[in-house]
Amino acid sequence: MSSDISNLRKFVSPEIIFGAGARNSVANYAKNFGARKVLVVSDPGVAEAGWLQEVCDLLEAADIDYVCFTDVSPNPRTSEVMQGAQFYQEHHCNVIVAIGGGSPMDCAKGIGIVSANGRHILDYEGIDTIHLPIPPLIFIPTTAGTSADVSQFAIISDPVDQVKISIVSKAVVPDVALIDPETTVTMDPFLSACTGVDAMVHAIEAFVSTGAGPLTDMHALDAIRLINENLTALVNDPSDIRLREQVMLGSMKAGLAFSNAILGAVHAMSHSLGGYLDLPHGLCNAMLLEHVIDFNYKEAEDRFKVIAESLAIDTRGMSSVQVQKALIGRVTTLKQEVGLTQRLAESGVSLTDIPTLSEKALHDPCILTNPRKSNQRDVEAVYEEAL
Ligand SMILES: [Fe+2]
Repeated sequence: MSSDISNLRKFVSPEIIFGAGARNSVANYAKNFGARKVLVVSDPGVAEAGWLQEVCDLLEAADIDYVCFTDVSPNPRTSEVMQGAQFYQEHHCNVIVAIGGGSPMDCAKGIGIVSANGRHILDYEGIDTIHLPIPPLIFIPTTAGTSADVSQFAIISDPVDQVKISIVSKAVVPDVALIDPETTVTMDPFLSACTGVDAMVHAIEAFVSTGAGPLTDMHALDAIRLINENLTALVNDPSDIRLREQVMLGSMKAGLAFSNAILGAVHAMSHSLGGYLDLPHGLCNAMLLEHVIDFNYKEAEDRFKVIAESLAIDTRGMSSVQVQKALIGRVTTLKQEVGLTQRLAESGVSLTDIPTLSEKALHDPCILTNPRKSNQRDVEAVYEEAL
């Protein structure tokens, strides 16, 4: 039997506990990892919502020593990672727990990298640059979208160069993800919309990525269906725990898909945008999504047709151009339904920013798996469409 080596695929994932109450096993896992002292990473918003205290109480009840680090901005910065790593070492911690959205989770990954490997966080930019194993990571996500709790990505903002760096490595896949839909009830509708659309973008980009394969496709398509069916209803009724669970499941599946298939031009361009203007990540993605689909469509039309069908579009009898229109129409409507209609110009981007934004996007690792190869002018044109 012959085999095509280029089709070999690997799939990494943390141990996942999914369901209401999953967060309550945090102390058991910390103990299993031989916790001497736990660094709990979170942020002020999550602390205010009460989730941080809950984790502290659970650790205390199990006689596990801990310290908390909450100096984390919405787009976590290199300086915060370095301070967190110093704090970790000063307190002789040996396990990291993160509770929060993508920001505390990515910051916690950065702290793990630096505390084990010693150099500045910027030295680990790119793919597979981490050589020493990092401390055990136990993550409890409180948003349904970023999927830092299952992914091999860490995104850190470098305010000096006004750019977000992407670190991609199996080393930053958490050991355990305690995915508990109850923790998402404190999200406001705007955050639910941003993170939900981010998850939808993860699934779409993973499915058309040049790194896609059978191990990731099933998760990507399930995610598209789950988010499409439930996100609008959730934004309209944020207290519905069943909807929370469905969107969180979709987000988790999107995370498993993109962590292994990698992403594409929406994320490359959105990382560049978010580093330049410090805007919410999900909003950046939302502003770019349909324009990147339009740019990529011809290069992966069969795959986009399957995406359209997963978005409940009946493609029977449609020409390829009609499918393209219907697909773009549906993602645009979804964005409107959840209230994300802002354009780049309204967010403070001007025409003169576009060459710099494009140059930075072309340096992001996510551009490498975009289905259509893109040069500086291509990326500029897509930004201009979204202006
Ligand atoms: Fe994302």
